[in-house]
Amino acid sequence: MHSFHYRNGQLCCEGVPLQSLADQYGSPLYVYSAATVRDHFVRLDASLSGVDHLICYATKANSNLAILNLLAKLGSGFDIVSAGELYRVKQAGGDPGKCTFAGVGKTRAEIEFALAEGIYCFNAESEAEVRFISEIAADLGVTAPVALRVNPNVDAHTHKYISTGKSENKFGIDFALIREAYQRAASLPHVRIRGLQMHIGSQLTSVQPFLEAVEKVAPLAADLKRDYGIDFWSIGGGIGIVYQQSLESGRPDWWTAPETGVPPLTIEAYATSLLPTLRAIGLRILLEPGRFLVGNAGVLLTRVVYEKRGTAKTFKIVDAGMNDLIRPALYQGHHEVVPLLEPTPGAPLETVDVVGPVCESGDFFAQDRAVPPLAAGDCLALMSSGAYGFVMASNYNSRPLPAEVLVDGSEAHLVRRRQDFSDLIAGEMIPA
Ligand code: LLP
Repeated sequence: MHSFHYRNGQLCCEGVPLQSLADQYGSPLYVYSAATVRDHFVRLDASLSGVDHLICYATKANSNLAILNLLAKLGSGFDIVSAGELYRVKQAGGDPGKCTFAGVGKTRAEIEFALAEGIYCFNAESEAEVRFISEIAADLGVTAPVALRVNPNVDAHTHKYISTGKSENKFGIDFALIREAYQRAASLPHVRIRGLQMHIGSQLTSVQPFLEAVEKVAPLAADLKRDYGIDFWSIGGGIGIVYQQSLESGRPDWWTAPETGVPPLTIEAYATSLLPTLRAIGLRILLEPGRFLVGNAGVLLTRVVYEKRGTAKTFKIVDAGMNDLIRPALYQGHHEVVPLLEPTPGAPLETVDVVGPVCESGDFFAQDRAVPPLAAGDCLALMSSGAYGFVMASNYNSRPLPAEVLVDGSEAHLVRRRQDFSDLIAGEMIPA
């Protein structure tokens, strides 16, 4: 479900017309729907009600304090990948005791910080890391809770940059080596073996790879429970979302988004197929969803600055760039282009490239896409930009970061102000 629909000719987020937000806060502008995030969390939580579980939101997907606070209030834990994310979770009112710490390159300072905050568990990705955690814990006179991340060597069938569960990926410990790794980890004096973790990739659109991984790793989980008394098994994140046809109801006449042929992965299908195996193991199940919770809950608003007609193409040049939303450039990500003012029914579509102002040919949001009429000055929404949108934005081309707004019902809250020029040079120095 999401909360972006036309009402009286205006694309609204819940009860708020997006054009009014673009006018008030300027563009480019990220807008998030609180109701969508809540709905996704509550539905996922309910689908797992048959098993002891904890949802640890993958903070990296969208780490705005307002989003973290909203999830913390729903009882969410957090999967973090840096000390900076742990700091954010704390500032947002999240509980470090419900945080898992992932990542292949945790530094001493990060491990010390996480130990001091009393996180739930380190998800260690190599034996070298476990030894390092033990050493640091010894220095501090504490015992560190540790899970090892197993790499099950399962193909997630997703973009190669976000596929993590194959032996050639840098993540986790090889399935063939994991049992010995547990043995050695268990002998370390300042480590307490607490769990098992895996994550095979992101934006998975079928349940099959999840099922394959869970079935492959389940016997290991059972053995670890027996041999080391582990408490939990984290099956990672990765639940894919629908990027095309994101206006699921009230689809306007001009809508021509191609069918993907891939049935969307429903949360019900996910839970139904995995739960029997998970329940049988009798461990607490952790999930680390990022995109599923926030992806369809956000849009990036941008305004057409110019139109340029060439011999080969027509370009709609907008005021957002690849620095604001890098997914099309980096992963060939698809984001629907939806005008904020509803097009007149039957208005002819035009095949265009929607591009940004950044000095790179990779700076595009849509190529050869049939879109409704868009004139200079018109605003549009790049749909499903709530995950891996703002968090991956940069100041490239010295472009200030956009503002972010959280809509809740009929209210809109500015949750991050737009950067100004002084932010661009903050912290820089010219040698005397
Ligand atoms: N757990 C671990 C250990 C992860 O590495 C990730 C994502 C997640 C959970 C959350 O995965 P999700 O539920 O969001 O699929 N920037 C890329 C996605 C990178 C995902 C990185 N790891 C994109 O825009 O598609």
